[in-house]
Amino acid sequence: MKPESEYDLVIVGSGIAGLSFALNVAKAGYRVAIFTKKDKAESNTNYAQGGIAAVTSAGDDLDKHVEDTLEAGDGLCDPKVVREILKEGPDRIQDLVNLGVSFSSLDDGRISLGKEGGHSKRRVLHVKDVTGKAIEDALLEAIAKQGVHLFEHYFAIDLITAKKVRKLGVEVEGEDDRVLGLYFYDGVDKQVKTIATPAVLLATGGAGQTYLYTTNPSIATGDGIAIASRAGLESMNLEFIQFHPTTFHSQKGDRFLITEAVRGEGAKLIDGEGRAFLKKYHPLADLAPRDVVARAIDREMKRTGAPFVHLDTVSMDIDFADRFPNVYKNCLDRGVDPSKEPVPVVPAAHYSCGGIPTQLDCSTKLKGLYACGEVACTGLHGANRLASNSLLEAVVLAHRGSKAVCTFIEGRKENSVELPEWIDGDAQVSDERVVLSHNLDELKRTMWDYVGIVRSTKRLERAQTRIRNLRREINEYHWNTKVDLPLLEARNLICVAELIVRSALQRKESRGLHYTLDYPDLAQKPENVMVGPLIC
Ligand code: SIN
Repeated sequence: MKPESEYDLVIVGSGIAGLSFALNVAKAGYRVAIFTKKDKAESNTNYAQGGIAAVTSAGDDLDKHVEDTLEAGDGLCDPKVVREILKEGPDRIQDLVNLGVSFSSLDDGRISLGKEGGHSKRRVLHVKDVTGKAIEDALLEAIAKQGVHLFEHYFAIDLITAKKVRKLGVEVEGEDDRVLGLYFYDGVDKQVKTIATPAVLLATGGAGQTYLYTTNPSIATGDGIAIASRAGLESMNLEFIQFHPTTFHSQKGDRFLITEAVRGEGAKLIDGEGRAFLKKYHPLADLAPRDVVARAIDREMKRTGAPFVHLDTVSMDIDFADRFPNVYKNCLDRGVDPSKEPVPVVPAAHYSCGGIPTQLDCSTKLKGLYACGEVACTGLHGANRLASNSLLEAVVLAHRGSKAVCTFIEGRKENSVELPEWIDGDAQVSDERVVLSHNLDELKRTMWDYVGIVRSTKRLERAQTRIRNLRREINEYHWNTKVDLPLLEARNLICVAELIVRSALQRKESRGLHYTLDYPDLAQKPENVMVGPLIC
């Protein structure tokens, strides 16, 4: 199937946010298409192991879930947003069950609830340790039945907006700025295509690939944030990059997530002498919020000079292979049997708590542009996301946002603007691929070394200078070369890295996931950091 030239809603990204949104809008009878840059199931959602947090047991209540979220968020969550989102949890979980997601249960038939850092109660629903994949599979089946068009290997390059086309001399009714369409790079035909639409949902996930070590798949190149920035939008709180405390340490650098639910079932972080060390750092020890645990590991590694710490999975009182089959297999593949020996672990970039500032109906400041999932910043996560709150945020806001989009599509006036075609550079794809891969290596290393778990103004400024140079180089390269996927991804990575650094430089305090040696304390008043658009 080829894409039509026009849709009521175009969704970029095929994770839980994009698929849930598509399902709802298509059910209302609108023409929806999802464009995804790799295979349809290749999303951050697919790799989510731990689960989805919601209040579903008698011993738990909404107030406790709200309190835990606010505590993890370190003063920067929007309490109203937190309550609004979390209260819808049980209904949206029921939607997933209705779609066929079969959450793990106990022998007595009750749902099995896991525990993760910062949660005062067991409230994480899961499908063993492959929760994201189970949800993704159910949603993919549902959208196929609903007739949603899904196009693989289409990379969203840029939004086409009224402001941009007016600058090219095209007449567009009214004075306002709004979405008119998108340019996509078709990775099969190797051509840029133009799609008209009044409404776009960015559901592109995170930006973990800006760092050398990450739990994120290769698709997590911050595309949505870069696209929104180039369309003139601000980004919010991008300095809050969550480092997951426990990824498998391998010499080759291919980090693999060891879900926090493993610690929820009793695993403990230990130093080289086999001593558990988290008690020294927080009363909740191994189940303290992630920022605390990741910093504690970083400190232990610096103290001892060891390149990793260990996770003691041997003394756990469970059948590891049965509860965590995916983690078990991946460890075995790398030569470690977690039921017999501790697992070597290190932190890695995991989740972007900031993003495109978005309302509870997923709308942004640009008319017709919506954002949902990790790419958006709603105020739920504040300065540090509570584990497993993000899948919940995606389904709750997709539910709300899809209603808002239907109203928007219904109320809009038809206008037929002749969209300008994409203008490519003259040159053919250059043989200088080595320049691109060198630039990317430098970017990821710079982010890891200077914009990591512990920061300082000097390190951030050093990172800023290097990233600006990289941006200049890539821009010259980009505009003089025929576009292709690696180049387009690199452009976005560099753009988002610069936005992260700018945001980090603006935050003159240590809060949540942003810890800087130059401002080790909290500022008096919690404030969001907004960073202006970057034309990259
Ligand atoms: C994990 O399973 O530890 C990751 C879950 C999350 O990041 O919410």
